[in-house]
Formats: sequence, C-alpha cells, structure tokens
Amino acid sequence: MKDLSGSRALVVGGTKGIGRATALALAARGAAVTVVGRDPVAGAATASALRAAAGTGEFLAADLSLLSEVRCLAGAVRERTDRLDVVVHSADALMTRRVETAEGLETGFAVNFLSRFLLNQLLADLLRAAAPARIVHVAAAGAKGRFDATRVPPGPGTSAFRAHLLGQHANDVYAVEFAARHAGQGISVSVLNPGFVDTGIRRTDPRLRPLMRLMERALRSRMRTPEQTAAVVVRLATDPDLDGVTGALFGPDGTRLPVPPTTAAPAARAELWARSERVVGAVPAPTVATREDHRI
Ligand SMILES: NC(=O)c1ccc[n+]([C@@H]2O[C@H](COP(=O)([O-])OP(=O)(O)OC[C@H]3O[C@@H](n4cnc5c(N)ncnc54)[C@H](OP(=O)(O)O)[C@@H]3O)[C@@H](O)[C@H]2O)c1
Repeated sequence: MKDLSGSRALVVGGTKGIGRATALALAARGAAVTVVGRDPVAGAATASALRAAAGTGEFLAADLSLLSEVRCLAGAVRERTDRLDVVVHSADALMTRRVETAEGLETGFAVNFLSRFLLNQLLADLLRAAAPARIVHVAAAGAKGRFDATRVPPGPGTSAFRAHLLGQHANDVYAVEFAARHAGQGISVSVLNPGFVDTGIRRTDPRLRPLMRLMERALRSRMRTPEQTAAVVVRLATDPDLDGVTGALFGPDGTRLPVPPTTAAPAARAELWARSERVVGAVPAPTVATREDHRI
C-alpha cells in the first residue's frame, strides 16, 4: 500500500456509497481527506471516521446541483489548502422525473457532469501545485454510440433518464478532452465504470425503488461492495504503475477499456467543452466561502 501521508484528497460525493468508502480507504493510507455532500449527519459521521483513521478529515456541505454552490465550495477548499493530490468525483442523482434547479438546469446533469466540469476548472491550479495529481470520475465509463454534444445542456424536452445517460457519456468525452488540454501539466484524469455496487443510489428516488429491488435481487451475486470498488478507485488515484496514464476509461475491476471512436471524436469533444464553459459561465476569480455550514 502506498503511504499517502502528506497528501490532500477531495472526495466529492464522499458522504455515502463508493465515495465514502474511497475517502476512508485514502485516509487509512494517511491522506488528509475532505468529503463533500449535502447530508450533514452522514457528513459529520464520515468526517469523524476520517479523523479516527488519519488524525484529520473534514466535511464540506454543498448542493452540487447548484453551480453557485460549486463556486462556493471551491472557495471553501481554497481557504483550507493550496494543493490537491487527488480529486475523486462520486456524486450523482438518479431520478425518474425531470426537475429543474433554481438555475434552470436539469438536476441530474448538473450534479453528475456540470458540477464536475466546473469544480475541476476552479481547482486546476491546486492540482497543478501537487503535480503529479489525479482526478478520478466514478461514473459509467465506456458508453458507446454517438455522442451528440449539441444536446448539452439537456433542454426541457429531455427526460431525467436521457439527461443522465448524456451526463455519463459526457464524463468520458470530457476526460479525453481534459487530458489533451492539460497535457504536460501533471494532472491526469480517468473515468471508472464501477459496475453494480451495493449502495443507496437506487433508493434515493422512491419511484425507482420497486424496479431497483427486483434488479438487485436478480443481480445480487454480481454485486460488489463499496469497499471493493473503493480499492479500484484508490488504485486509479494513486498507483505509480498508472503514472502518466490520462484520458483513460476503466471497467469495474480496474481493467482499462478501449475509448470508443464516438467518445474520442475531436469535434464532439470541442463542442462539449465550449458548451459546458458557456453554461458554467466564465470561471470567476477564487471566491471566499460564504456558507457558515461549510464547516462541520
Ligand atoms: N452503485 C452502483 O451500482 C453504480 C453503478 C454505476 C455507476 N455508479 C456511479 O458511481 C458513483 C457513486 O455512486 P454511489 O452508488 O456511491 O451513490 P450513492 O451511494 O447514492 O452516493 C452518492 C453520493 O453523492 C452525493 N450527492 C448526491 N446528490 C448530491 C448533490 N446534489 N449535492 C451534493 N452531493 C450529492 C451523496 O451525498 P448526500 O446524500 O450527502 O448529498 C452521496 O455522497 C455515481 O457517479 C454513480 O453514477 C454507481
């Protein structure tokens, strides 16, 4: 096990599920870990488990469906550190009905793609300061089929389900483009498809529960634990054998997946980046956190 003493890690969506298990696994190796989520009870419990493992650890509250809160979160992170060795994105919202945020965006797409895009932009200099640094997106790497970047952001006619698929594919396309744009800067990015993992993600929307219960019963023997998946995430985030590997996609056991031509297509990558930048707005100067409940 690589000793991570002295390393700083941010695990977004680290209060539950795969993110929480990853945060604890990083802390067990000595990293100072900050987790992000909305649930103050789960956040405080995770922070206390991090402190028990590594002597340090913190929870920052943010609703990632709101880009204003993502900006605020970036400010709070910057108040605490001037370097990040690892950023893990593991937040997602599975929803059956389209719900728009107060900022006019489809909620799931805002959480599982746009918040990641914006946060990486706002914290890129902290990652450069720790180079070689790594970003790991826990998503659904390996989406096939045409990626239509002109559907970003998903408009009013797009269902929550389609917006979710678009967001998952966008993470792959984004990773390939991020790698190209950050070549030589010491920040690598990868995307993991965790497979079927025993977390609460399928229980967050009550309308999904009956269907998901059936699915879980049928696939129970193939289900992984969050800890098994966390071990793969930690490998992607820290394994020296992966030094210099970037823009890469990985399957549930950490095997590298081929990047489909539709994901690597330069025109789609450029269009996704330009549209995402337009949506999140010009990246502002680092802000100072204003939410008191960031400190828990
Ligand atoms: N589990 C699976 O079988 C599976 C399969 C394929 C892909 N994945 C992917 O794996 C990743 C992790 O999933 P998981 O199964 O670990 O899910 P999970 O157990 O539901 O955890 C999701 C995390 O995201 C946070 N989150 C959700 N909405 C948020 C919001 N609006 N603002 C801030 N934080 C938010 C939650 O924290 P709070 O509740 O505190 O906000 C929680 O920490 C996701 O990207 C998911 O798509 C999972």
